[in-house]
Amino acid sequence: MPEPLMNIQRPEKLNLVPFVSVDNMMKLVLSVGVERFMVELAGFVEEDFARWEHFDKVPRIAAHSAEGVIELMPTSDEATYGFKYVNGHPKNTRSGRQTVTAFGVLSSVDTGYPLLLSEMTILTALRTAATSALAAKYLAPAAARTMALIGNGAQSEFQALAFKALLGIDSLRLYDIDRNATEKCRRNLAGKGFEIATCRSTEEAVEGAGIVTTVTADKQYATILTDNMVGSGIHINAVGGDCPGKTELQKAVLLRSGIFVEHTPQTRIEGEIQQLPADHPVTELWEVITGRREGRTGSDQITLFDSVGFAIEDFSALRFVHEKLKDFPCYDELDLLADPDDPRDLFGMVMRAQATAGV
Ligand SMILES: NC(=O)c1ccc[n+]([C@@H]2O[C@H](COP(=O)([O-])OP(=O)(O)OC[C@H]3O[C@@H](n4cnc5c(N)ncnc54)[C@H](O)[C@@H]3O)[C@@H](O)[C@H]2O)c1
Repeated sequence: MPEPLMNIQRPEKLNLVPFVSVDNMMKLVLSVGVERFMVELAGFVEEDFARWEHFDKVPRIAAHSAEGVIELMPTSDEATYGFKYVNGHPKNTRSGRQTVTAFGVLSSVDTGYPLLLSEMTILTALRTAATSALAAKYLAPAAARTMALIGNGAQSEFQALAFKALLGIDSLRLYDIDRNATEKCRRNLAGKGFEIATCRSTEEAVEGAGIVTTVTADKQYATILTDNMVGSGIHINAVGGDCPGKTELQKAVLLRSGIFVEHTPQTRIEGEIQQLPADHPVTELWEVITGRREGRTGSDQITLFDSVGFAIEDFSALRFVHEKLKDFPCYDELDLLADPDDPRDLFGMVMRAQATAGV
């Protein structure tokens, strides 16, 4: 049985739940350091993937619409429960909104009381990049130092920095259909230890890259990577295809690759492998982490991490933030839970508030 997480709140203040706002998340990330944050977070993901069998696992619950998707991602390890609310709306950036926004909760299984409420838009970018780099640590060619980064939007810099911190990637080849996105990405990563080439096509970007990350947003079967672009022995980190009808790779690329996934039942619905028959062999990342199954089997093998994002990664991220708040108290106390003096006198508490609430 896993250890329950300690409540960082004072026990007499049962109404208050630690809340990490966007402002506080930024303070926390900057206090720890972006790269160190992702290295340590990858350690938490690795630890939780290594005890995979302890977790409740269900494909996320998705509400699809014409423009996007809203998803709930729950999991529990018997002591602690977590969930994330997340959306994916590729056209949002046209109206000044993010494609992906999120928030999440960590709770005690014993009492059902939340231990933490947190923004997760920034945290999702960090955990996605940390998980991608963790997978690549097990799967990518050891000598890879150059990564092609296709799609230079909100997730892209996090991906670049996680691969630098965990794998020593020091050369980037950027491409996005929107030159402004590439320019933004180049500007943000300048002076961060990369040699950066901006490219005019995906084909140009993948030249000489040992790792190819695709992190584009488009609500359709896209073919960002076609078979002719993929040389033997590379590692593909496919992040952007994560919904039914939303993929990035040509089917022929999948048929040439050793495919690694997070949670097979969810990835069959949402990942690149939705293009393949339901019995096409895949390996779950936790099996590689625990040594049950092989990762890369040879220098010629194309390895593909078909990432869609799984609830346990968000659980690990919330668990990591909860732990970090002990050293860096970047949170507010949110009056979230009704706490009458007599637990059964909820109504009485509301009535008594009339005197003080000025209503
Ligand atoms: N797997 C996961 O765990 C996970 C987590 C978060 C986000 N995502 C997915 O990653 C993708 C990117 O997210 P984001 O927040 O960076 O989105 P974003 O909208 O900020 O950026 C996406 C970028 O892709 C570019 N693009 C679109 N089509 C392209 C093409 N054909 N070639 C090159 N570039 C192209 C766009 O111009 C844009 O700059 C989304 O699809 C999102 O759903 C996956």
